[in-house]
Amino acid sequence: MTAPGTMTAPGTMTAPGTMTAPGAMTAPGAMTAPGAMTAPGIAATLEFDPAALAPREAYRLLIGGILPRPIAWVSTVAPDGTRNLAPFSFFTIVCESPPTICFAPSRTADGHKKDTLANVEATGEFVVNVVGEAQVEAMSHSSATVAATVDEFALAGLEATPSSVVRPPRVAGAPVAYECRLAQVVHVGGDRPGAGCLVLGTVVRVHVAADAWRDGRIDTDVARQVGRGGGDDYVRTRDRFALRRPVVDPDGTVRLPA
Ligand SMILES: Cc1cc2nc3c(=O)[nH]c(=O)nc-3n(C[C@H](O)[C@H](O)[C@H](O)COP(=O)(O)O)c2cc1C
Repeated sequence: MTAPGTMTAPGTMTAPGTMTAPGAMTAPGAMTAPGAMTAPGIAATLEFDPAALAPREAYRLLIGGILPRPIAWVSTVAPDGTRNLAPFSFFTIVCESPPTICFAPSRTADGHKKDTLANVEATGEFVVNVVGEAQVEAMSHSSATVAATVDEFALAGLEATPSSVVRPPRVAGAPVAYECRLAQVVHVGGDRPGAGCLVLGTVVRVHVAADAWRDGRIDTDVARQVGRGGGDDYVRTRDRFALRRPVVDPDGTVRLPA
């Protein structure tokens, strides 16, 4: 018995939803440059067709491979003034001019918009608070699914600080916070469960904890940002290494800077 959408060569062991070409050691279409090195321990790859998978399985493939993901801890206010706060790890920078960031609240299991998205669409404003190690438990607490009428700053036991140019407050103690005005919402997948909405915001103010501002940069050792892994895993940003980027000489030679 194989899972729907599975093609297996006799004797081949595959994960549900996996397609493997008989005898193939690499995914079809994979190209190996002469002299290229294979990552240690990776002798073969498994190939998955998301169309043959349940959304939850596709979710696991996405969050298990694409990590660490930064966490946007988004504060909004409902039209009636209720303060809302929730973390989103589908989050990144779009561009610096104009400074734009984005995050993606998914549709709920019954296809509804999460409160954050409803508030952003209704008010056009949000704040992305950066999560430091000191805030992880409160951040996780604020991910609970509660009624839109619940003040989630109070729920998470957090102090709020007024923002400068938008209505949603900031999380007091967050190492960095970005006040944003809504630029665009891109809906992906309609209103089915697990569909997405990419929320793009123009950054109109940035707040950095004074002790985390050093030599014109945000000091990671002080900000201690936390990221999300797969499942319930999180990562710290204390294990880092530097890698210089190559320069290109006028004759086209690509080399490391002296
Ligand atoms: C670390 C973390 C990251 C999360 N990332 C996302 C995400 O990117 N998209 C999403 O829809 N939900 C994400 N969630 C779940 C939401 O935080 C959760 O559904 C929350 O209740 C939404 O709140 P709201 O209805 O007040 O907007 C995440 C939860 C945690 C703990």
